[in-house]
Amino acid sequence: MDKPNETERDQEEAVRRALERYYRAGKPPWDTGVTPPELVALIEGHGERRDALPPGRALELGCGTGTNAVYLARHGWEVVAVDLVDRAIEQAREKAAAAGAAVRLLHGDATRLDELDAPGPYDLFFDLSCYCGIPPHRRDAYAAGLTRRAAPGARLLMFGYGPGTLDDKFSGVTADELRARFAGWELVDVTPGTNPFPTFWFTLRAGAA
Ligand SMILES: C[S@@+](CC[C@H](N)C(=O)[O-])C[C@H]1O[C@@H](n2cnc3c(N)ncnc32)[C@H](O)[C@@H]1O
Repeated sequence: MDKPNETERDQEEAVRRALERYYRAGKPPWDTGVTPPELVALIEGHGERRDALPPGRALELGCGTGTNAVYLARHGWEVVAVDLVDRAIEQAREKAAAAGAAVRLLHGDATRLDELDAPGPYDLFFDLSCYCGIPPHRRDAYAAGLTRRAAPGARLLMFGYGPGTLDDKFSGVTADELRARFAGWELVDVTPGTNPFPTFWFTLRAGAA
């Protein structure tokens, strides 16, 4: 059923090794330690209505060294966070411990959530540049894993690079792709990022209660 061919396996391995190299080399370029304002606005509210999202259960995909998982825990969320690279998860554990934040950090693959202890349901999924780097043959499994774990009306806040932005054949994500792949979800917002190349913040809502 879930049997990748050799090329697909090679592609997954190449991605994993490249990510591991970044973490072994020191601080990866994306590891800013800053929670993006788009997540802050969702969690704490913005504008006159200060429409903060009530805390619930959150699952972060590709959490890196845990900056945003810790942020969510500090704002009352029950957080599970997953990353493919063990070194990233080790650093995230250190960060959470130093912050006194209760975050459940899991080393594993966001496209194989059934192999992890993360049954959900979750009210919020957060993905900051993880999905857009996942090889295409694993993306349906990613969407299915989130769909199975989504509480009614759950949100997915995702940041992704546009296609052709990174130096490989497959990285990138578009609104059309998410609409097609996340059946049963509604793409409720697409906001361009502020980078000098195409990036997007996507908000999706899982089927209503
Ligand atoms: C560009 S980094 C961003 C990390 C973190 N979200 C941040 O902003 O600091 C992408 C992260 O996703 C992780 N990742 C990539 N593919 C993954 C997968 N299939 N499952 C879990 N994590 C993955 C990488 O190891 C990396 O930590």
